[in-house]
Amino acid sequence: MGATCVFSALSFYQGKENFYENVILPAVHTLSPEVSHNLAVAVNMYNLIPKAKYVDSPRLAINSWGVDFTNPVGMAAGFDKDGEAVLCLHKIGFGFVEVGSVTPQPQPGNEKPRVFRLKENKAIINRYGFNSDGHEAVYKRLRDLRESKFKGVIGVNLGKNKSSPMPIQDYVQGITMFAPVADYLVINISSPNTPGLRDWQRKEHLEKLLKELIATRDAQEVRVPLLIKLSPDLTDEQRKDVAAVLNKQQCRVDGLVIANTSTERNYNLEGPHVSENGGLSGQPLAEISTQMISQMYKLTNGKIPIIGVGGVFTGKDAYKKIKAGASLVQVYTAFVYHGPPRVTRIKAELDQLLE
Ligand SMILES: Cc1cc2nc3c(=O)[nH]c(=O)nc-3n(C[C@H](O)[C@H](O)[C@H](O)COP(=O)(O)O)c2cc1C
Repeated sequence: MGATCVFSALSFYQGKENFYENVILPAVHTLSPEVSHNLAVAVNMYNLIPKAKYVDSPRLAINSWGVDFTNPVGMAAGFDKDGEAVLCLHKIGFGFVEVGSVTPQPQPGNEKPRVFRLKENKAIINRYGFNSDGHEAVYKRLRDLRESKFKGVIGVNLGKNKSSPMPIQDYVQGITMFAPVADYLVINISSPNTPGLRDWQRKEHLEKLLKELIATRDAQEVRVPLLIKLSPDLTDEQRKDVAAVLNKQQCRVDGLVIANTSTERNYNLEGPHVSENGGLSGQPLAEISTQMISQMYKLTNGKIPIIGVGGVFTGKDAYKKIKAGASLVQVYTAFVYHGPPRVTRIKAELDQLLE
């Protein structure tokens, strides 16, 4: 018994992939998805995961927007919604962490249950609805981190309060609050779980929104890169409209995050949760997201850097997104199904492919 415990602890501390796959994750996945999410954030918050042994190959390094990334594999928005786990996620090997979505005022999000695993499909459906500690609490955590001389790359993903009467103002506040502590900001106008949010992708709305937000960003002391996150459910026509807006000088953002979760269900999904409402993430999204990256890259003449996200489980998945036009990639669902060792695997495989 004692030997088993010692072996388990050692394996955990060595970040062994098999141990995560066969012992830790099956145990964690007996809990509800939201409880295991909270547990994972807490384990990271208390810095309980050992530093990954893998040292980033120089081939993985990239500079985008004047920011140095030691590797291009980031943690996507939605895992560390309140900026509690940034330090440990960097230690695990992520090249950057996108905190959020953060809303101006704290809000509880939708009723539980609101997260569902679709194991057979390596997918998740979530309808969290922007549960957030709010700007002030998250800002203080990030400010303290910066004051501790933490050097890792942090993005902040901005949402809006559910009942906000003036959504543009929510984003304006977010830019003003987080510009001093973030390496980049993302305007999230593609979450399917906040009524009306995705309408901001429509061309008339988008143009108005971007003009105002870019002017706000330009008025800050530091010029923080401003990105927008898009939905994979936009039709070809809508993607062209978005690109036409982005190609206007006053609406030119610094980057795109492609893509958020999908409300489509035509992906041959299996299991008891397929008809839950919410946004679908994971393996089923891989191809549609890569295809959208390629399309948006062409429509914007390769001039706007792209963070590719959706179904990245392997180095090959990351490589496909980079070949389609992404400069950086992000991971969420693969982390849920495979744990921290997957970050090393994706980076090592990507390095081989880049070679
Ligand atoms: C449980 C969960 C919560 C999420 N919350 C957010 C969020 O708050 N803001 C956001 O922009 N994206 C959010 N996302 C979307 C992810 O950032 C990502 O775009 C999507 O999951 C596709 O990547 P993946 O297939 O690697 O999971 C969330 C995803 C999941 C699974």
